[in-house]
Amino acid sequence: MQTLSDETIREALSQRTVTLPDGTRIPALGQGTWNMGDNPARREEEVQALRLGIELGMTVVDTAEMYGEGLSESLVGEAIKGKRDEVFLVSKVYPHNAGGERLARSCEASLQRLGTDHLDLYLLHWRGSIPLAETVQGMEQLVAEGKIRRWGVSNLDTSDMQELWKVPGGEACAVNQVLYHIASRGIEYELQPWLQQQRIPMMAYSPLAQGGSMRKGMLENKVVQSIAKEYQVSPSQLILAWTIRKSGVLSIPKASSSDHVRENAAAASIDLREDTLAQLEEAFPAPKRKVPLDII
Ligand SMILES: NC(=O)c1ccc[n+]([C@@H]2O[C@H](COP(=O)([O-])OP(=O)(O)OC[C@H]3O[C@@H](n4cnc5c(N)ncnc54)[C@H](OP(=O)(O)O)[C@@H]3O)[C@@H](O)[C@H]2O)c1
Repeated sequence: MQTLSDETIREALSQRTVTLPDGTRIPALGQGTWNMGDNPARREEEVQALRLGIELGMTVVDTAEMYGEGLSESLVGEAIKGKRDEVFLVSKVYPHNAGGERLARSCEASLQRLGTDHLDLYLLHWRGSIPLAETVQGMEQLVAEGKIRRWGVSNLDTSDMQELWKVPGGEACAVNQVLYHIASRGIEYELQPWLQQQRIPMMAYSPLAQGGSMRKGMLENKVVQSIAKEYQVSPSQLILAWTIRKSGVLSIPKASSSDHVRENAAAASIDLREDTLAQLEEAFPAPKRKVPLDII
């Protein structure tokens, strides 16, 4: 595996960007934080890993009130201390909190834990029983109050998105965060084209299939192995680069060690050739029909 200098990694990340509907450009590789902050013995390492990621240019940091019931947000708060202006901070609200006073309270609690006065992006974590119209209204109220810069959704399939588009103000949605990796390509059939048509970026979660554990054998696949060898990259870097091969996709791998963070950030420098994409297509074909949205 090639080792790139920090400068080269930063440069590569600054070239790979995703443009939000309001014109804001953010790096196409960010950092997930699920399960981070749960284990006090790993805290220091995790804080350092996140800080390194930010320094290398993976400035989008994704968390949620759900992760460790606030433990992840507190960890992120510690990691971004003194770096808040460099970070594009994303958090998510539980569906049962996504309306009325509860939304305002959840947002305030997240801001407290994160040690900041605003979020750059606030997501509905998944769809629950609170009407989308109520969530949109609450999100817009938070925007008006300056608590969040913009809002979006997560785990919404095409029909939910279409419903959202019919809600007053629903078209202000900035992103949809969904599960996406090379062995889970269901969204490519319908949801991704729909998002592209509306110019709504997609945030790919679990882009490494949770280190391969969700799809056993993915990282060991012989096509993946041989392409990784040819490009002098690791299998993880290869499948990460694959997730951001098209514009409009932002990938948020979670890594709790500095080695993994450096490796993931360096994936921004990988340009996959057409023949390589064709080989991967053969090994991991895209679906030819609509399949239910994959969700963790
Ligand atoms: N919206 C939602 O419903 C939703 C659902 C799931 C996830 N998410 C978000 O998406 C983020 C990423 O997804 P995820 O955490 O489920 O899984 P992931 O990013 O696909 O995989 C994380 C796992 O991969 C390992 N890893 C990271 N970099 C690696 C590398 N270079 N080589 C080998 N292994 C590596 C990590 O190990 P170490 O930790 O030891 O480095 C960890 O075990 C989450 O953290 C969260 O922010 C959102």
